[in-house]
Amino acid sequence: MPDRMRVICRSEDLQERGPGVRFDLPELGERVTGFAVRYNGLPRAYVNRCAHVPVELDWNEGDFFNVARDYLICATHGAHYQPETGYCVMGPCKGKGLVKIAVFECDNEIMIQLDSIS
Ligand code: FES
Repeated sequence: MPDRMRVICRSEDLQERGPGVRFDLPELGERVTGFAVRYNGLPRAYVNRCAHVPVELDWNEGDFFNVARDYLICATHGAHYQPETGYCVMGPCKGKGLVKIAVFECDNEIMIQLDSIS
């Protein structure tokens, strides 16, 4: 496994458009978290910080999708983000985006690459 790769969960922990898996990101500071979801078959991971105000997206832990389960949503003011890109399409931070984390699936494990976080 290359340096700075970290296993965050098993493949079966990420169900299509299901609850997200949260993980700590001490590299980015105290109490900073990230999350991963599965969307259109692939894992997607982001820093769990809204582009509007730096708060976590999920009020209910692990709850990242909107009701239709086609966008990631911030529980605070309702910003909607594309799950594939993290781009904000609706809400107070429209046009901005979540910080993406490179994520891989291999041997039934989901891994993030920490070097990819800036
Ligand atoms: S804090 Fe996320 S939309 Fe305002």
